[in-house]
Amino acid sequence: IDELLAAGVTGTRVFVRADLNVPLDGTRITDDGRIRAVLPTVKALADAGAKVVVASHLGRPKGAPDPAFSLAPAAARLGELLGTEVAFATDTVGDSALATVDGLADGGVAVVENLRFNAGETSKDDVERGAFADRLAELADVYVGDGFGAVHRKHASVFDLPARLPHYVGFLIATEVGVLKKLTDDVQRPYVVALGGAKVSDKLAVIDELLKKADRILIGGGMAYTFLKAKGYEIGSSLLQEDQVPVVVEYIERAEKTGVELVLPVDALVGAAFPDLKTKAPANPTAVAADAIPADRMGLDIGPESRKLYASKLTDAATVFWNGPMGVFEHPDYAEGTKAVAQALLDSPAFTVVGGGDSAAAVRLLGFDENAFGHISTGGGASLEYLEGKTLPGLAALED
Ligand code: 3PG
Repeated sequence: IDELLAAGVTGTRVFVRADLNVPLDGTRITDDGRIRAVLPTVKALADAGAKVVVASHLGRPKGAPDPAFSLAPAAARLGELLGTEVAFATDTVGDSALATVDGLADGGVAVVENLRFNAGETSKDDVERGAFADRLAELADVYVGDGFGAVHRKHASVFDLPARLPHYVGFLIATEVGVLKKLTDDVQRPYVVALGGAKVSDKLAVIDELLKKADRILIGGGMAYTFLKAKGYEIGSSLLQEDQVPVVVEYIERAEKTGVELVLPVDALVGAAFPDLKTKAPANPTAVAADAIPADRMGLDIGPESRKLYASKLTDAATVFWNGPMGVFEHPDYAEGTKAVAQALLDSPAFTVVGGGDSAAAVRLLGFDENAFGHISTGGGASLEYLEGKTLPGLAALED
């Protein structure tokens, strides 16, 4: 993008593929981190006199307009953060989008409606995706890729559109890739990884890769119970992905053979049922040993002994990558495990990368100062797939 800015962009229509996929409560944005993350690119282009057309997906609508997934709240928030008016097109490539872009003054910014209101955006069919990319190309002269959170998707706006326009890498993608490279190319050791979140199946591929790269892997969150089951423990009514147990057994054996320290919870906070996240009614959890979860109880956070253990396993790290909360942090009774890991990262001199989605939101919602962490990635799936060593369509498309 520096090259583009240096060449001069006054009056040039620049399509910025952002990731404005922010969490919403109705139309209220509960965490605007992803909007703030793309501001440097949008601001630099607007300040240089470009006509900036910002596009993004939000949620997973089914290829047709759905008001519940409108980008209008994100567009309004972008305007607030920029301190200027941001025009909003009520479609993505139709009359409203064309008229809105036509009406932009030099230095003006517009947001077009959710890319995924169009079936062509996510289509598996190259021709259908290409046809939608052709329509998107009509909106701009130049493409800037800056939606790091979506670079792992082979979607029209991420993969096909850059092939149709001169294309550049935005500031956010450049920063994110620079940081993740430090974890893959020449990592400072000990390299400790903390993985949480609900689904073990989402993390299997990255664990497979990390077993070759990391010195220590701490497992928490809902997926920890599949690991405990694989150890032969009874886990009551805790979350279990039964079909993944054999894979996890193999990972535990491999970690032992290769000397990677795989750390599992030694205790858990358990409750009778999943807590009510709306009322936040007291859940009255109890702490039990990880191998003694009662049949009628569900593990919902790591316990106090595990908190101490995990903090101690982070103190000597030189590099830490953390993805996924340790428990149901949205409920105060089950937030302590996630807080303990966040605090341990803050206390440690290690280079820390917090990988996307829920853990980034957790850090902010639990009241931590996000600037105190080395880097908070805007990409959940994208950062995991990067660490898996996969070719990411949205980066490959910008490479030349
Ligand atoms: C994310 O939230 O990880 C990105 O915005 C990608 O969203 P998706 O998983 O719906 O493609």
